[in-house]
This record gives sequence, structure tokens and C-alpha cells, in this order.
Amino acid sequence: MAGATPFATYPSLCDEVVLISGGATGLGAEFVCQFAAQGAQVAFVDIQDEEARALADTVAATGSRRPLFRHADVRVLGSYQEVIAEIAEVLGPIGVLVNNAANDARHAADEVTPSFWDERMRVNLDHYYFATRAVAPMMRASGHGSVVNLGSISTHIKLADLVVYRTAKAGIEGLTRALAQELGRDGIRVNCVIPGWVMTARQLAYWVDAEAEETIAREQALPRRILPADVARLVLWLAAEDSSGCTGQNWIVDGGWM
Ligand SMILES: NC(=O)c1ccc[n+]([C@@H]2O[C@H](COP(=O)([O-])OP(=O)(O)OC[C@H]3O[C@@H](n4cnc5c(N)ncnc54)[C@H](O)[C@@H]3O)[C@@H](O)[C@H]2O)c1
Repeated sequence: MAGATPFATYPSLCDEVVLISGGATGLGAEFVCQFAAQGAQVAFVDIQDEEARALADTVAATGSRRPLFRHADVRVLGSYQEVIAEIAEVLGPIGVLVNNAANDARHAADEVTPSFWDERMRVNLDHYYFATRAVAPMMRASGHGSVVNLGSISTHIKLADLVVYRTAKAGIEGLTRALAQELGRDGIRVNCVIPGWVMTARQLAYWVDAEAEETIAREQALPRRILPADVARLVLWLAAEDSSGCTGQNWIVDGGWM
């Protein structure tokens, strides 16, 4: 959690059915914890089963509702959609979808093959669209819904060895605009949250070295680390009815990267 500031409470999230992809670790795990703390009925999918089960235990131990975990590889679109339907059968119609699963492993631009390109687009972009398609009829029937897509600041800044990832993340911004228009008439909102460099365990383990810390200190206006909780606060607000007039927009939480 960022500092000691308590999270706001959103009455509209209490009992809401929330689905988060890639919820076992990283930002997704923070979202699982924070939506559960709001009293939401949280479901999440991931391919890391052990981490997912440990997270569900941890959340339950805090006194919140145990989140529902289902194994799903978001790259396999048909089975992922079936899992979404099954989650809705168990918990009820999904009212909030957080499209979050991604893979930001570095790749040299001149070594990308067509099959690598396809795989990275599937994990970083395609499922956002197909998961939204799967939940849209449920949201339409209840007259409201909120889809929060995780983009990335990497689309907007200089960053090497991420050409496919950055392209997919740019696509998410376009997808957000298009779906907001298509689904708005049904009361469904679609927004894009763009994190800056967030200090998840994975980022700290693989990429945040002394040089990276210097870059962060130089480029960010705020002289502090951006934490998963900073992103979760924004995602909660966009999911809640408190933001009911907002759709089709990018929301950046990057500490003021200049
Ligand atoms: N951490 C950052 O600094 C940062 C910055 C900008 C954008 N983002 C975006 O925020 C989101 C979360 O980032 P993160 O840092 O927590 O990522 P992460 O890599 O730490 O976690 C991603 C999660 O998705 C899961 N996942 C990966 N492939 C999957 C698949 N095929 N099927 C199902 N689940 C799969 C992973 O197991 C993991 O639990 C991503 O969309 C990412 O692009 C993160």
C-alpha cells in the first residue's frame, strides 16, 4: 500500500461481480485484494495456479470474501470465454472487467518472427477485446458495466526491446475508444489506465537496477516510487459508479513522467 492513506470506500462496488485477468501476481494481485476489501465478489484468472491459490488464501484470511480463481490462458480465446461464462454462472453477471494480463518480456526488434508477433499480440491485446465481448451481454442486460483496460506508458516514452508489447499497448488505447463508442449506448463504460513504472515484485526482480532508479528519479516529477496501490486506487474509482460520467479515456498514473 502507498503510505498510510486509507483507500476510499465505493458503495457501488459492494457485492459487485468483478473479473480480473492476470490476477495472481503483480498489479492484478493488488486489484484482487482491493476489490475484495470493497466487499466485491472477485473472480480472477491466471496461468500461475500456485500463486493464485496462495493469494485467494491470503485474501480470505483478511476476512474478505474468498476470491474465485479459475485457471485460464488468455491466449486461448475460446476457452477463456468459456471460463468467463462459467464464472458468471457461479457468481452472477459480471459488472466490472479489468483486462490486465500481459507479458512484457523484452525482445530485440530485429529478431521478432511472425509466430512471436502473433503470440505477443494474443497475450497483450487480443483477449482484451474477446473478454469484453464475453461480458458485454451481461452488462447490457443489467444496464451498466465498467471495463478497465491496462495500457502502458511504454507506448508514450523511449523504451528499447519492447516493440511488439508497445504496439499491442498502443492498440489497447484505440480499442478503448472504439469499444467505449460501441458499448456506451448500453451504459457500458470502457476506460484505459496507463501505469508508469510500477514497482511490482517482477519489475524489481528483473529490471529495476541502480541505473533504472536513476532514470526514475530523473524522469518522474514525483520523487517516489509508484506502487501497485497507486494504480489500484484509480482502477477502483473507474470501476465504481463514482466515475459514471467517464468513458473512452486514458488515465495516467506515472508520477508525472516528463
Ligand atoms: N508494472 C509496471 O511497471 C507496468 C507498467 C505499465 C503497464 N503495466 C501493465 O499493467 C498490467 C499488469 O502489469 P504487471 O506488472 O502486474 O504484470 P506481471 O507480468 O507482473 O503480471 C501479469 C500477470 O498476468 C499473468 N499472465 C501472463 N500471461 C498470461 C496468460 N497467457 N494467461 C493468463 N494470465 C497470464 C501472469 O501470470 C501474471 O500474474 C499489464 O497489463 C502491464 O502491461 C505494468
